[in-house]
Amino acid sequence: MIDLHCHLLPGIDDGPEDLATALQLARHAVSAGIRSSVVTPHMHVGRYNNSAANIRAAAAEFQRILDVEGIALQIRCAAEVRLDHEILSWVGEEQIPWLGQWQGERVMLLEFPHGHVPVGADKLVVWLLKQGIRPMIAHPERNKEIMRSVEKLLPFIRLGCLLQVTAGAVAGAFGEGARARAVDLLDKGWVTVLASDAHNLEARRPELEPGRIAAAAIVGDDESWNLVRHRPARIAGLEVN
Ligand SMILES: [Fe+2]
Repeated sequence: MIDLHCHLLPGIDDGPEDLATALQLARHAVSAGIRSSVVTPHMHVGRYNNSAANIRAAAAEFQRILDVEGIALQIRCAAEVRLDHEILSWVGEEQIPWLGQWQGERVMLLEFPHGHVPVGADKLVVWLLKQGIRPMIAHPERNKEIMRSVEKLLPFIRLGCLLQVTAGAVAGAFGEGARARAVDLLDKGWVTVLASDAHNLEARRPELEPGRIAAAAIVGDDESWNLVRHRPARIAGLEVN
């Protein structure tokens, strides 16, 4: 399986604090059937001041250490980009590492604030689309406003945004509200991929299989594999594994 959204790099955001913990996460991912992880550190103005250059360097170093340690995990890197007006200049300065490609467009993993969908977010999406950038909205099932009303997500679906739902949310690890919304989004056929959004080995582990199994009961077995294997591979430009 291929995980398109996770925080495995040590000391770069709210993922693992040190290398030893990061290696434990990587080992766990491998034992959970994940062969490739696209690490997506936060780019969040004033909180996590990451950019393409430092993320790429950290990911390359992490891959080197994984190889030395004999941990069979392939690392690619992107970023989880917090919705902010800074995105406009980041795009111009080529500061954003893309998640991959979708129908010839670059894909950006876009994070809304957890409590609401900001006014004007749809305008930013329109602007991104004009630049040939297709946003993939990170974990909409955990956004409080979208949990209350799926109508809040509709403008973004109509614009053609991709959706990443958290595998653990489908399996109930983020509570009943998030589970119900995740199931609803799967049922509507709006979900592009499931990803772990792993941060640690406690509540947010690098696992996809429990979510895939829960999703299979809603969308069927074939589509459940599309969510964790075929579509992530296509976006990240990786071999299906
Ligand atoms: Fe994340």
